[in-house]
Amino acid sequence: KEAEPLRIIISGAPASGKGTQCELITQKYGLVHISAGDLLRAEIDSGSQNGRLAKEFMEKGELAPDEILVTMVKEALSKQNGWLLDGYPRSASQATSLERFGFQPDLFILLEVPEDILVDRVIGRRLDPVTGKIYHLKYSLPETEEIAARLTPRFDDTEEKVKLRLKTHNRNVRDVLSRYEEITVRIKGDCSKEEVFGQIDKAMAKLVQQRNTSASRS
Ligand code: AP5
Repeated sequence: KEAEPLRIIISGAPASGKGTQCELITQKYGLVHISAGDLLRAEIDSGSQNGRLAKEFMEKGELAPDEILVTMVKEALSKQNGWLLDGYPRSASQATSLERFGFQPDLFILLEVPEDILVDRVIGRRLDPVTGKIYHLKYSLPETEEIAARLTPRFDDTEEKVKLRLKTHNRNVRDVLSRYEEITVRIKGDCSKEEVFGQIDKAMAKLVQQRNTSASRS
């Protein structure tokens, strides 16, 4: 019997490296990456009323209203068997709705990074609008001059705004963590992205192995 596909949540403070690690995880494990922040930014780009409303909250570093995000995430998850969910849930109510819709993760990855490093990471972050790839002016340089010329910062990546995002994160984090204690793996996130991925890869490989063993028994 085939093992069930993996369902993973990745969580951590703003700029802790969630998006960067998701690129590496999807490359190796082929999971579909669903990012709450990316869903909201796509909604903003579509010019919809919901997008305009979400942007008001994002600019203040606050959580976008559940009415906007809960259905979007539900629809995105429903289309997939396995998934890598990034930046969701961020509140008790989001965790409850996820559970109510029957989406149960196998592993909850928590990236732990000290706050002073987070601010440095946010300020130097740049995105490639063509590929969506994440870069950093000090830690993750673009491969070519052509890419360097088109890199853009994110609208909420100022020192002032990241401090607000951090406050929101610190206010909500405990409520979310308490729901996933038994499946949480804590990852030391203040080392190179390859070293961070090494730790995640180890936890995921263990999970895959357990899955394969129990699938072959049944
Ligand atoms: P979202 O887009 O999810 O932003 P965030 O949580 O603040 O996280 P980031 O995307 O800023 O960082 P990241 O952890 O992905 O780090 P990255 O890999 O880019 O959310 C934005 C907003 O949307 C929220 O503020 C909120 O308003 C709203 N929202 C989102 N989810 C919501 C929800 N569930 N409910 C309600 N509202 C929601 O890395 C950062 C930088 O560091 C990059 O430049 C990267 O190159 C560099 N870097 C990464 N890893 C390393 C490393 N190991 N060493 C050195 N540099 C590194």
